[in-house]
Amino acid sequence: MSRPYVVVISSEKGGVGKTTLATNLAIYLKAVQEDLPVTLCSFDNHFSVDRMFRIRGSRSRGDIRSLFRGVTPEELVETGEFGVQFIPSHGELALIRDELTGNDSLARGLTGSQLGGILIIDTRPDLDIFTRNALFAADRVIVPIKDAPSMENCKHLYDFFDRQELSRAPLRILPCLIDSRIHFDGPFRDPYQLLKAYAINRGYRCMEGFIAKSPKVESLNTNPEGKIYPILTHGRGTEVHLQMSNIARQVLLGLLAKDRRRLDDIAEALQETQIKRAETFRERSATLRPDCLICGQQLISDQGIKPAGFYAESTSGSVRAFIDESCFNELVFRNFYSQSGPVRADDPMIDLFRESAQHTYFSLRRAPHTKNFYQQQIAFYRFDEEGLEISRKIFELKEFDKGLFNRERSRLYELVTSTLCTDGQRLGSDALVIRKVSSDFPDEILYEEAYRHFNDIIKRIAGQFVENE
Ligand SMILES: Nc1ncnc2c1ncn2[C@@H]1O[C@H](COP(=O)(O)OP(=O)(O)OP(=O)(O)O)[C@@H](O)[C@H]1O
Ligand SMILES: [Mg+2]
Repeated sequence: MSRPYVVVISSEKGGVGKTTLATNLAIYLKAVQEDLPVTLCSFDNHFSVDRMFRIRGSRSRGDIRSLFRGVTPEELVETGEFGVQFIPSHGELALIRDELTGNDSLARGLTGSQLGGILIIDTRPDLDIFTRNALFAADRVIVPIKDAPSMENCKHLYDFFDRQELSRAPLRILPCLIDSRIHFDGPFRDPYQLLKAYAINRGYRCMEGFIAKSPKVESLNTNPEGKIYPILTHGRGTEVHLQMSNIARQVLLGLLAKDRRRLDDIAEALQETQIKRAETFRERSATLRPDCLICGQQLISDQGIKPAGFYAESTSGSVRAFIDESCFNELVFRNFYSQSGPVRADDPMIDLFRESAQHTYFSLRRAPHTKNFYQQQIAFYRFDEEGLEISRKIFELKEFDKGLFNRERSRLYELVTSTLCTDGQRLGSDALVIRKVSSDFPDEILYEEAYRHFNDIIKRIAGQFVENE
């Protein structure tokens, strides 16, 4: 099996026959080519699809919402009447709107599908995020229009394709609900000819033919059983019957004419982006110092990366490294909370610090206004999640921690001199920004979005340093 060919029925105008077209098209496609898998779903909140196709007693495995959550259609389909598969509708699809990250959420999920055949999507009369997701994935978009005003609405649909830099090739106008009894004098003999001329005039391509307005077709959803009857079985005597089989044939010809599906192209583009992202990640990782910036133990080796608590990068980008969690905790407690002696892991302050560190960016740099002094003063800053300053503490940078007789080189001194000193002695204008990372996956921070975000914050922090100088 392959990825499905996606046919979307869409028009911003309500009541133009979208759902009637989508549901009946599925049946006619099966009638023309029995062995073709045909799947149908609707983004609308009425249950026309379910009412038309559900076989009594059958049980559903999910509904249309899951399609936007990366579940493949094959895991959701229910076998329905006439050999058509359908994905059960949901009355409040709109509630998951916030879960959609963009116009390509649906397409991304569908690239994992091996459903094959044709997937027909019926949409709401609205260019909302759900419709846009359907359009983004479409090999063919059929746009039913019934009059000149509904043709005007098509502009938005075409604009969407242009804005997304998508080819307009899938789009086809289909005049629907055409009253074939009306005739005009002059070159346009009837409403169909007139609408077709309007469309061509605007550069819109049309399906061949139209769907006539038929009282018989209209009556197919009004009956004592509350069912919706198909045109194929209950409207054979109408001209719509022939028109529908003509439309189904055109859809099949469109499928045959294309050896690649839109979803194949999307899958390929996704894969390329992933390869590119992996490359950037590798390049970024290669610039990391392998050792903990404070204690010097090796954190990165051929075997991978050891759990680390913090990631540090200088605003100039010259330093990138991880820091062991307890090293940084101890550094902070000793130097900035003035705690003497070793910090115990069960110290309640540690828990508090851990909690607040999750929402903090720390930074170390030369204290403001000290550029011209030989005396080295250092500032320790805390910034909030958005990179805005919360607090700072200024103090003298001493080479040795303890008294004269028990001289131990200060770890803070080593950290600062090994990262921020330009000529080995003096502090330059560089700053070290330190951020808590997930201890199991410390290098997650170097992935595309996470790193981009970190970088934005670094820039904001650096901007405040310049202002404070
Ligand atoms: N060819 C036809 N002849 C006569 N009536 C039709 C025809 N096609 C659809 N109808 C009727 O027109 C009405 C609207 O049709 P339908 O629900 O398919 O439109 P829609 O575009 O899906 O509407 P909505 O925008 O509300 O989803 C229905 O009552 C339907 O029975
Ligand atoms: Mg509808």
